[in-house]
Amino acid sequence: MIKKIAILTSGGDSPGMNSAIEAIVNAAIKKKLEPYLVYEGYLGLVNGDFKKVEKKDVKFIGNKGGTIIYSARFPDFKKIEVRKKAISEMNKKGIDALVVIGGDGSYMGAAKLTEMGIKTIGLPGTIDNDISSTDFTIGFHTSLNTIVEVIDKIRDTAESHKRVKIIEVMGRYCGDLAINAAIATGAEILSTSERKLSEDEIIKQTKKLREEGNRSIIIIVSEHLYNVSELSKKIELKTGIETRSTIIGHSQRGGIPIAEDRILAKRMGIFAVDSLIAGETGVAVNLIDNKLSTKNILEIIKMKRLPRKELFNQYDLIK
Ligand code: ADP
Ligand code: F6P
Repeated sequence: MIKKIAILTSGGDSPGMNSAIEAIVNAAIKKKLEPYLVYEGYLGLVNGDFKKVEKKDVKFIGNKGGTIIYSARFPDFKKIEVRKKAISEMNKKGIDALVVIGGDGSYMGAAKLTEMGIKTIGLPGTIDNDISSTDFTIGFHTSLNTIVEVIDKIRDTAESHKRVKIIEVMGRYCGDLAINAAIATGAEILSTSERKLSEDEIIKQTKKLREEGNRSIIIIVSEHLYNVSELSKKIELKTGIETRSTIIGHSQRGGIPIAEDRILAKRMGIFAVDSLIAGETGVAVNLIDNKLSTKNILEIIKMKRLPRKELFNQYDLIK
């Protein structure tokens, strides 16, 4: 039987993390549990930075961007002695279980705590959509909307000035934000780690598109693939077309969560509370074909990313 549960957010923040916190706290109280918040991810766990909360403490937080309990990248958590300190802080407060909202790195931290006897459950909180066990992660759709809004604006000015625009989007090593943004905005060229184009190929396609009469040409690329400022100069030099680059950056991670992310986060949060009460541990919540489920975290981490072949084929038909 669990009584006290703690919640933390870890790794890169994502819109909707607050919605998850709000739902977990409310559902926990309804189920006669005592919810605690942990500040700054695993760092707060080690420092004993916990706060017992009531319904009023989380009222309306689900409509806010970022995470009200803050996040951190805390590599020291990989050390067993650091995790032992975290467990001792949890024991001091009598915490029975921990909800970890974060990406696959944060999942790894939860799995390590599970091995050390702590009850844990994960929620996929990342804009990257790079957790293979779930169709969507919390924050992905809000981030995608931000990207689409930015690219639509860039299209306006690129069309006015007859320019090429390279736009770099986030996603770590997952191209889901890029491919979905390309479909949504009608970008003419796309390069992601799943289907990386050489710089020469980008230049060749750009020339051809201009010859075919396109005034503006939008090139979406995933982060980590090119130096977009250098690439922009090369395109200009080799094609004679004015080219500019934009790195969208961290604005992709902020902002109020759209309804889709709020609902996903709340559904997953409630499911996490029920799963913990049912005795599950070392698992994370997924949404597959609109159905919630749990899966062992270590199995999730080992899963291969799907190559998104159908999406790329569909994009090829409309670009
Ligand atoms: P994300 O959760 O978004 O993938 P990170 O990869 O930065 O982000 O991981 C977030 C945090 O999870 C790390 O800063 C660290 O505290 C913890 N973590 C990551 N990998 C491990 C690991 N192998 N063992 C223990 N903790 C880990
Ligand atoms: O995982 C979310 C993410 O925004 C990735 O898309 C990106 O690669 C990374 O975090 C950036 O991390 P930081 O905010 O530490 O620069």
